[in-house]
Amino acid sequence: MASITIRNIEDEVKQAIRMRAAGNGRSVEEELRTVLRDLASEDGGADGEAGEIKASLPLVDGGTESSALSGTELTGRTVLLIISGGIAAYKSLDLIRRLRERGAAVRVVLTEAAQQFVTPMAAAALSGGHCYTDLWDRQTEIDVGHIRLARSADLVIVAPATADRMAKMVQGIADDLAGAVLLATRAPVLLAPAMNPAMWSHPATQRNVEQLKVDGCHLIGPKTGEMAESGEAGPGRMAEPLAIAEEAARMFSPLVGDRPLAGRHVVITSGPTHEPIDPVRYIANRSSGRQGHAIAAACARAGAKVTLVSGPVTLPDPQGVDVVRVQTALEMKAAVEEVLPADVAIFVAAVADYRASRIAEQKTKKTEGGLTKLKLTENPDILASIARHENMRPALIVGFAAETQNVEAYAEEKRIRKGADMVVANDVSHDSGIGGAGGVMGGERNRVALATAKGVETWPEMSKDEVAERLVLAIAEQLSA
Ligand SMILES: Cc1cc2nc3c(=O)[nH]c(=O)nc-3n(C[C@H](O)[C@H](O)[C@H](O)COP(=O)(O)O)c2cc1C
Repeated sequence: MASITIRNIEDEVKQAIRMRAAGNGRSVEEELRTVLRDLASEDGGADGEAGEIKASLPLVDGGTESSALSGTELTGRTVLLIISGGIAAYKSLDLIRRLRERGAAVRVVLTEAAQQFVTPMAAAALSGGHCYTDLWDRQTEIDVGHIRLARSADLVIVAPATADRMAKMVQGIADDLAGAVLLATRAPVLLAPAMNPAMWSHPATQRNVEQLKVDGCHLIGPKTGEMAESGEAGPGRMAEPLAIAEEAARMFSPLVGDRPLAGRHVVITSGPTHEPIDPVRYIANRSSGRQGHAIAAACARAGAKVTLVSGPVTLPDPQGVDVVRVQTALEMKAAVEEVLPADVAIFVAAVADYRASRIAEQKTKKTEGGLTKLKLTENPDILASIARHENMRPALIVGFAAETQNVEAYAEEKRIRKGADMVVANDVSHDSGIGGAGGVMGGERNRVALATAKGVETWPEMSKDEVAERLVLAIAEQLSA
C-alpha cells in the first residue's frame, strides 16, 4: 500500500483537505484517498495515474466497493474497534475482516499494551486505513482527532476488553486515546471481555461488568474454555470474531436502539422435555431449543428482564438471560409458576404430551414384556394453565404450535382454544423444504404464521434469529397498543 503525504501540496489546498477531512470525520490521509478514488472513478478507471491509484487503494469506507463483499448488515456503518492489551488481541485482526465483510468501515485504535500483541501495521493493512495509537499524535490531533474519531463512529467495539480497560471505563479515565474516545463517544459500545478466569471472576471485575451494563454497554462473552496459560480453563475466552461481528450487526436492530421491552419481565420456555421411563430411557422429541433461545436473546436485547426455562439442550445460555434448567414437563410447569409474575410469557418449548405413568426404578427388561406394557399419563398443558391463571396471568401470552399441515388454520384455532393472545405456528413438516434433512426442528431456519386477534399473517422463510426479532417487535407493539 503506497503511503500518501501532503507535504508538497500548496498550503491553501492542504488547509482545504484538512477542513474537508474534519467535516467528514476522516483522517487527512483517508480524505485524500477518498478524493483520489472519486477522481479515479470519474475517469471510469481509465489508464493513467488516477486509475492506477484506485487499483492499489484499500477500501476505507462502506461505499460502492464494499458491496462486492458479502453481507449487508453493517453497510454504511462506521465501526471503531478498540483493541486492548490481551492475548486475544490477535483474534481481533480477524474481527476487522469479519466487520468489513459485512460492509462496515472499520477504524482501529490500539492501546499501548495491545501493541505488545499486534502491530499497528497489521491493523492498518487489514482495516484499509490509518491505525490510531496515540492521543498526542500531532497529525491527527490537529483538529482534535480523538473527538472526531469518537463522533464519527456508529458503534464502538472493545475487543478484547481487558480487566484493566473495563475498570478504567467504569472510572471514566481518559489518559490515553482509547479512554478519551470511550468517554467522548455517543455511539453504542459493545465489549468482548477476555482474560484469565480468576481475573474474570474477581469481585472487582464483576462489579465493573455490572456497572458497565448499567452505563448502557452491551457485552458479548466471555466463553468458557481453555486458556492460553497451560492447564488453565474457565470463563474468560473472548467470543469468536464471527459472533462479535454478528452481534455488532444486531446492535443496529430497532430492538437495541429503542429497547421496546425495557422494564418488562418476560418468561420463555424452550427446548424439549425428557420424560423418564426407567434409569436409561426417556420420551423426547427433536426440538433443539434454537428458536426459544433466539427469542430469549432478542427479548434481552430489547431491554427485558428475561427468565428462560429450558429443557435439555446443547446450546449455550443466551446473553443477559437468567436460565432455569429442567428435564420434565412437570418441572417446567413448576419453574414457570415459580418465576411469575411476568408481563409476557412465551411458550416455545416442545413439551412432551405424555409421560410414563410409572418410572421404573431398574432398567426394564425385554424378557418381562419390556416397553410393550408402558402406560402413559397426559402431561399438564402449561400454556393453557398459565393463560387461565387466576391471579398471575401475564398481560401477554404467546404460544407456539408445531404443525405439519393447515398451519394458519391450526394457529388461530389453538390461540382461541388455549386462551393465548398470539400463536406462532411453524411448519415442521419435512416437505416444508426448510432446514434440509432435519427440517425446522433442530435447523437454523423457520417459516411461521402469526395468529393474533387481528387475524393470521404468514411470514416468509427466515433465520430463527430473524423470526425472534420480528416476533419481539410484534410483542412490543401489542403491549403498547
Ligand atoms: C502476556 C500478557 C497477557 C495478558 N493478557 C491479558 C488478558 O487476556 N486480559 C486482560 O485483561 N489482561 C491481560 N494482560 C494484562 C494487560 O495487558 C494489562 O492490564 C494492561 O494494562 C492492559 O492495558 P489496556 O487495557 O490499556 O490495553 C496481559 C498481560 C500480559 C503481559
